[in-house]
Amino acid sequence: MRNSTFLRHLMRLKTFAFLLFLSFFIVTSIPITASSAEDDTDVIAEDHSHIDIKRGERFFKGLLPKDRKFESCVSCHNLTHTDTLNWNPSAMAIAVKFAGKDFSEFQSAVMQPVGKKMEASHKDFAIEESDLKKVKLYLDELAVTGPPSAGPTINQIIIFLFLGLLMTLALLDLIFFHKIKYRYVTVIILIVAVIVQVKMVADAAISLGRSQNYAPDQPIKFSHKVHAGDNKIDCKYCHHTAEFSKSAGIPAMELCMNCHVLVREGANSGKFEIAKVVEANETKTPVEWIRLHNLPDHVFFSHAQHVGIAKVDCQKCHGDVAQMNIMKQTSDLSMGWCINCHRDTKVNFKDNAYYDNYMKLHDQLKGGGIDTIRAVNIGANDCMRCHY
Ligand code: HEC
Ligand code: HEC
Ligand code: HEC
Ligand code: HEC
Ligand code: HEC
Ligand code: HEC
Repeated sequence: MRNSTFLRHLMRLKTFAFLLFLSFFIVTSIPITASSAEDDTDVIAEDHSHIDIKRGERFFKGLLPKDRKFESCVSCHNLTHTDTLNWNPSAMAIAVKFAGKDFSEFQSAVMQPVGKKMEASHKDFAIEESDLKKVKLYLDELAVTGPPSAGPTINQIIIFLFLGLLMTLALLDLIFFHKIKYRYVTVIILIVAVIVQVKMVADAAISLGRSQNYAPDQPIKFSHKVHAGDNKIDCKYCHHTAEFSKSAGIPAMELCMNCHVLVREGANSGKFEIAKVVEANETKTPVEWIRLHNLPDHVFFSHAQHVGIAKVDCQKCHGDVAQMNIMKQTSDLSMGWCINCHRDTKVNFKDNAYYDNYMKLHDQLKGGGIDTIRAVNIGANDCMRCHY
């Protein structure tokens, strides 16, 4: 008797496990990269076979079974987003730079390195011309198809749905079917699935941007640490409208050229990034910096008021910018953030001509009725000051 119920339970468990296994197998057997990009291949390289491009890709990724004396290209030229700044040009960046250029130009760039950084990195490259030609084909294709998608891949969506299914099954079993004998197993499945899903949603939300700690890759690897930190360039040298206008402004390339007429190689990035500055300046193409800080339209904020008049340090709102290699938004820019600071921050009332016509407050100060004035006292937290 006892034996047969046990067997029955075992059978049910088996069915459940089999279903799980089956769905998991389906999920994992779908190729990692979406293959839609490959369809474009033939359009680009009409007279080159698909195989050559694939070979180039494998070579670039160091997957060819050959004795080579150098690292794979991808170990320095990353294909996907890196969490920490990679000072070397990305694969996409070199692909774009050489997309319209001849193979010979590409070849001499790779094989005859110029400059300190390049000489150190591309040292003793021994690559056969036919191999390098395939690499160029691969990069040309990459320039058109773009880097592997950073957004949620089909895989991630399927895993997400799969987890949803798993949770539903686990819940149904917990409440109705009781097919799994050991409840804690179901509970653990449920908890793990919830945690993974929450993490996936959180990651997706962060990559949507506009959030605290948002730090996207910029078109040029401009480092505030190198400029404002190591070289002690004043913030207002570049953001020169901060003191007297609403917006702090992003400098144009002409301003960069004040220095980069002479400085053509950086200790970290070599010549590649500064070459972009020079080129953008020569061709008068504005650099498309990705903007981080963005208040909604219904909020009014002025740098002039805060930097020019109230003399609030940039760091109070933007964090330790002088230590950032990649610019990052450190404040959440919420209404509470503004209001709290207005409540806490003292205003230097006496030595600032701007506040001369706040007669009543001046009288109270002199009479000893109050000893400090904070931003909130001069109306900084009135709705109309921030909302039109
Ligand atoms: C050499 C010029 C230069 C100097 C000096 C400089 N910046 Fe910048 N700043 C830039 C450029 C270019 C960008 C756009 C690229 C980026 O976001 O990294 C920028 C972006 C920013 C942003 C992000 C804007 C946004 O929302 O997209 C902030 C905030 C900022 N700078 C603050 C500062 C502060 C604070 C200092 C001084 C500690 C400073 N900057 C010094 C050139 C400069
Ligand atoms: C006041 C002078 C000055 C200005 C203005 C300036 N830079 Fe620089 N920049 C430097 C110096 C100095 C270095 C460091 C060179 C080195 O590593 O020896 C540098 C380095 C760089 C590097 C390479 C960083 C590295 O370590 O490899 C890049 C990229 C760069 N600057 C971009 C810009 C851009 C973009 C602007 C305009 C928004 C700009 N610079 C404006 C002085 C300046
Ligand atoms: C050890 C790291 C490293 C490896 C490995 C490497 N590179 Fe580079 N590569 C660099 C750096 C760093 C630069 C930029 C240096 C500079 O601009 O001064 C660069 C620049 C380039 C450039 C641009 C040159 C220019 O003139 O703008 C090309 C093209 C390039 N690499 C191709 C390759 C290929 C193809 C491979 C594989 C066969 C490869 N690299 C392997 C580090 C590396
Ligand atoms: C009181 C807080 C505060 C201070 C102080 C402050 N900022 Fe900002 N900054 C902001 C906010 C908020 C935004 C977003 C504004 C928007 O979206 O309209 C911003 C945006 C920016 C931007 C984006 C582009 C633009 O034109 O506005 C730059 C660059 C910038 N700040 C640089 C600076 C620099 C440099 C200083 C110091 C001289 C500084 N900020 C001081 C709060 C501040
Ligand atoms: C680091 C502290 C700080 C933060 C954060 C801050 N402020 Fe202020 N703000 C001040 C100070 C100090 C004053 C007083 C200057 C004055 O009004 O003369 C002020 C004044 C103002 C005023 C002007 C009030 C007047 O006198 O007309 C406005 C509008 C304002 N802030 C908007 C904002 C908004 C919007 C934000 C958030 C996006 C914000 N502030 C965040 C410190 C801050
Ligand atoms: C110091 C500036 C400041 C003052 C004063 C202020 N707000 Fe806001 N308010 C903001 C900012 C900044 C946001 C945008 C918050 C965000 O995008 O998360 C906001 C957003 C809002 C929103 C939209 C809801 C939301 O979260 O996006 C409403 C409604 C609002 N405020 C009402 C008010 C009212 C009512 C008052 C007066 C009691 C007031 N605000 C005073 C800065 C201010």
